Amino acid sequence: MFRTHTCGELCLLNSGLKITLSGWVQRSRKMGGMTFIDLRDRYGITQLVFNQDVNTVLWEQANKLGREFVIQVTGLVAERSNKNANISTGEVEILVSELQVLNESKTPPFTIEENTDGGDDIRMKYRYLDLRRTNVRENLELRHRITFETRRYLDEMNFLEVETPILIGSTPEGARDFVVPSRMNPGEFYALPQSPQLFKQLLMVSGFDRYFQIAKCFRDEDLRADRQPEFTQIDCEMSFVDQEDVLNLFEGMMKHLFKFVKDIDFAEAFPRLTWHEAMRLYGSDKPDIRFGMQFVELKEEVSGHDFVVFDSVPYVAGICAKACAAYTRKQLDELTDFVKKPQIGAKGLVYIRCEADGTFKSSVDKFYSNDDLKTIALKFNAQPGDLILILAGAKLKTQKALCELRLEMGARLGLRDKNVFKPLWVIDFPLFEWDEDTQRYYATHHPFTSPNLDDIPLLNTDPGEVRATAYDMVINGVELGGGSIRIHNSELQNRMFELLGFTPEKAQAQFGFLMSAFQYGAPPHGGLAFGLDRLVSLFAGLDTIRDCMAFPKNNSGRDVMIDAPSVIDQSQLNELNLLIDLKPQTVKE
Ligand code: AMO
Repeated sequence: MFRTHTCGELCLLNSGLKITLSGWVQRSRKMGGMTFIDLRDRYGITQLVFNQDVNTVLWEQANKLGREFVIQVTGLVAERSNKNANISTGEVEILVSELQVLNESKTPPFTIEENTDGGDDIRMKYRYLDLRRTNVRENLELRHRITFETRRYLDEMNFLEVETPILIGSTPEGARDFVVPSRMNPGEFYALPQSPQLFKQLLMVSGFDRYFQIAKCFRDEDLRADRQPEFTQIDCEMSFVDQEDVLNLFEGMMKHLFKFVKDIDFAEAFPRLTWHEAMRLYGSDKPDIRFGMQFVELKEEVSGHDFVVFDSVPYVAGICAKACAAYTRKQLDELTDFVKKPQIGAKGLVYIRCEADGTFKSSVDKFYSNDDLKTIALKFNAQPGDLILILAGAKLKTQKALCELRLEMGARLGLRDKNVFKPLWVIDFPLFEWDEDTQRYYATHHPFTSPNLDDIPLLNTDPGEVRATAYDMVINGVELGGGSIRIHNSELQNRMFELLGFTPEKAQAQFGFLMSAFQYGAPPHGGLAFGLDRLVSLFAGLDTIRDCMAFPKNNSGRDVMIDAPSVIDQSQLNELNLLIDLKPQTVKE
């Protein structure tokens, strides 16, 4: 028997008990004739004591143990004189009488501690060592709890977990596909699923009624803190439902997860905001509503004062930061530099300070009288001591820039507390997005999303105004999940393909199987998918979803531990009938 207990469970009640533990040497301290070793396993840390006076040979053996050696010890549980309140076993220690080295270890390239000395790259290269760190392991434990509770909730709601294939054809989520060459079909490629979208709809046609899957998805897109090329969805689909049914069921799921994983109760229904309102008030389809600071539009108030910046643009709006009027010149310059960053793209920043005496100081004093500024301040309901920040320009671009400024101010003012959770639904997304470059419409969600039935007449006259029956769940500014009610009528589906610029032949080639399935009695259906990685990192308060994945990729999409992607043997290329002819700019040095 390797162990009678784990390193996380012994306490005063076990005093005097002879036990055996196995684990890793976390650290060792030599104090005169006493050597103390912290022994670690998945469950915790227990202090071992070796006393020279009691057993010199054993003590000498203990002094030779290096960090991360795997050992087995037997000894008596004893009360500690200097107790450690920070660990669960901190009241006891083990007076070791037997020691066996199960395996030696090279000195690890970084310390296996919560605050490690290892940088990102080295920890990714030795991810299996990084995973020994308590905080990283806890993220994976949390992930397990979330998937476990998800399965429990969905099972109780009659959902069936069905696996769908990984080697498939292209799926319509709008990113680039990862492709896999087929040896048996020379010159042909599978695509990895960007989501199980088409299969889950087919399962509805098959009568499965309620499907879910903890599904791996693959998207070849530029990476960000909340994006990985390979990620996991909690993917769901239901038959005979309308939007209200879907929102209620999955709001229930999120409340269940908050309750059973984080012990947080949400008594109230999640607020709902239409996409238009979200853009108008927050400049974002995933607003962080932990704090207010909503946009106030000012075009009317500021026009006609000879200030050409405001007169010449279609959109002027601002936010009011409470109690920030004392911001110094330097702080305001910093904010101006922030909004002018290329990725934010504003041309400049106008401020109005609401002074304690009821007067106003502004960067545009020259054009606006104190009364003018007062009228503006009233629109914000600004109080003495507040600071109004205003941007102007093209509507969408300026809304996005003001959104970034709002988030920045929220962070500066400590209003984005990671322990506060504010969920909402964003609904009524536009069905289409117009792309200036290609001069055509794209599906905002995907081509199977049903238009709002009231807007169907607009499909012919004003497609840009058609609302989709699509919805996103957003928490703290993160798009956690999204979905839609689907089109289940092949005529309407064909019309959608047409509006999206598919020729009947192209639609047939790409989605023919779905179109033909729809001719055999497709039930009304809809669903959604949550990003599991985003959900776990939100619950854990992480800054990147990488930290809740066991083996993530780095920012260039590489797994630096196994060194993938990599070149393959000529013999493999031959088998696959592939010839590599890299374009010059992609050849590696
Ligand atoms: P969508 O593309 O909105 O919808 O994806 C659903 C959720 O998946 C997560 N997500 C990601 N997480 C990590 N890395 C990525 N690269 C990534 N891309 C997406 C997000 C997102 O909200 N088939 C539809 C769902 C449906 O209509 O039922 C779909 O995939 O949290």
